[in-house]
Amino acid sequence: MKQTILITGANRGIGLELTKRYLEEGNRVFALCRKASPELKKLSAEVIEGCDVTSLPSLQKIAREIAGVQFDLLICNAGVLNDEQMMKLEEADFESMLYQFNVNSLGPLRTFSTFRRHLTNGSKVAMITSRMGSISDNTSGGHYGYRMSKTALNMATRSLVKDFANDGILFGLFHPGWVQTEMTGHTGQLTAEESSQFLKKRISELTSQNTGGFWHCQGEELQW
Ligand SMILES: NC(=O)c1ccc[n+]([C@@H]2O[C@H](COP(=O)([O-])OP(=O)(O)OC[C@H]3O[C@@H](n4cnc5c(N)ncnc54)[C@H](OP(=O)(O)O)[C@@H]3O)[C@@H](O)[C@H]2O)c1
Repeated sequence: MKQTILITGANRGIGLELTKRYLEEGNRVFALCRKASPELKKLSAEVIEGCDVTSLPSLQKIAREIAGVQFDLLICNAGVLNDEQMMKLEEADFESMLYQFNVNSLGPLRTFSTFRRHLTNGSKVAMITSRMGSISDNTSGGHYGYRMSKTALNMATRSLVKDFANDGILFGLFHPGWVQTEMTGHTGQLTAEESSQFLKKRISELTSQNTGGFWHCQGEELQW
């Protein structure tokens, strides 16, 4: 059955590849971005620019434009990783941490809350999180802002699972792997195309039995 899907951060990287994967099967994809890339413009997605996940009004404006559209799947993919590799804590850039929290933790929550009315019983919400948000998996330290922001997203999603269980909305937290995108300086083990294929498979496996899980895109259940 054809699906209607909304994806944030669809102009490049994993979001762009997810957009392609869902279009390939004839689904209707609303591709949200701050500014469309030439590659996104070439696709048959319904491209909506001006989506900044730190701005509730920007999301609300889009929701008004597409009032009445129901989504089978909402993918909160937009995210940011600021370079804190060499950061000593005494030199911490708290503004940078706050910004990552704003985009990575509050961004998906704003997106969900704005488009909640566009979701029905059985709709799925895929949060693109990171293994770097796993507390038990943190054996290398650093990356305070990014790590904390993804841990907070995981926590927020667990609350959403409980709060929307009676509405039949399903949630999954997905780590896309270490992926060759701008975020990683195009290093990584997976191409964005490969990661998007794995993510799509994992999202298809999301059910009322496993809602709220935290998975690597290649299937491993991740520790909190
Ligand atoms: N690549 C990896 O190895 C990896 C690993 C774990 C998790 N992830 C997660 O996967 C997701 C996608 O990352 P990626 O690797 O595809 O990175 P990317 O190539 O850097 O793409 C990030 C996307 O997020 C968008 N974005 C950033 N800030 C935004 C904002 N304030 N409002 C709206 N959109 C915003 C960007 O839009 P602009 O072009 O407008 O900046 C872009 O479309 C992120 O959530 C990331 O944390 C990636």
